[in-house]
Amino acid sequence: MNVPIALTVNGKAVTDIVDPRTLLVQWIRDKLQLTGTHVGCDTAQCGACTVHLNGRAVKACSMLAVQAQGSTLTTIEGLSQDGTLHPMQAAFKQCHGLQCGFCTPGMVMSSIQLLKDKPGATEQEIREGLEGNICRCTGYHNIVKSIQLCQSGKVDATATTATAA
Ligand code: FES
Ligand code: FES
Repeated sequence: MNVPIALTVNGKAVTDIVDPRTLLVQWIRDKLQLTGTHVGCDTAQCGACTVHLNGRAVKACSMLAVQAQGSTLTTIEGLSQDGTLHPMQAAFKQCHGLQCGFCTPGMVMSSIQLLKDKPGATEQEIREGLEGNICRCTGYHNIVKSIQLCQSGKVDATATTATAA
C-alpha cells in the first residue's frame, strides 16, 4: 500500500504518495526530476547519490523515500542561491575538481559535510574524509585542492557565477 510523505526539498514543501519500497534516490531522480543526484552503484559504495538530509550528508541509495518523511532535504540543485554557486561548487569550478562530472554532485555534498565536521581538516584528513566517494577520473588531486580552496575562504568571486566553466 502506498503511503503519503511530506518534506521540504531545496526550500520548497513537497508532498507525494510513494510505494514504500522506493529508494530515496529513485524518488529524487524519477519523481522530482532532480537528476543532479546520481546513481553509481546503489550499494552505498560510490557516494554519487549523496544529499543532505536535515543538514547531514547521506547516501540516498541506502535509504527509503518514506524514511525522509518530515525531513529537510537538499540536493545539489538546491545549493546555489539566486544564480550564485555555493563556495564549494565555485571551488570545484575554479580548481577543475572534476573531469566527467559524474561523481561531482556527491563529492560536493560530501565535501561540504567534511568541512562542517572538521573546518581545519588537513590534506590527509580531507583524503580520508572522502573515502566514501569514488572518482574514476581525477585521481582526487584537484578535488582535494578544491576543498582546500573552499576551506581557505579564498574562492575567486568570478567562479561563483552559476554558468558553465
Ligand atoms: Fe549511492 Fe553509489 S549510488 S553510494
Ligand atoms: Fe569522473 Fe569523478 S570526475 S568520476
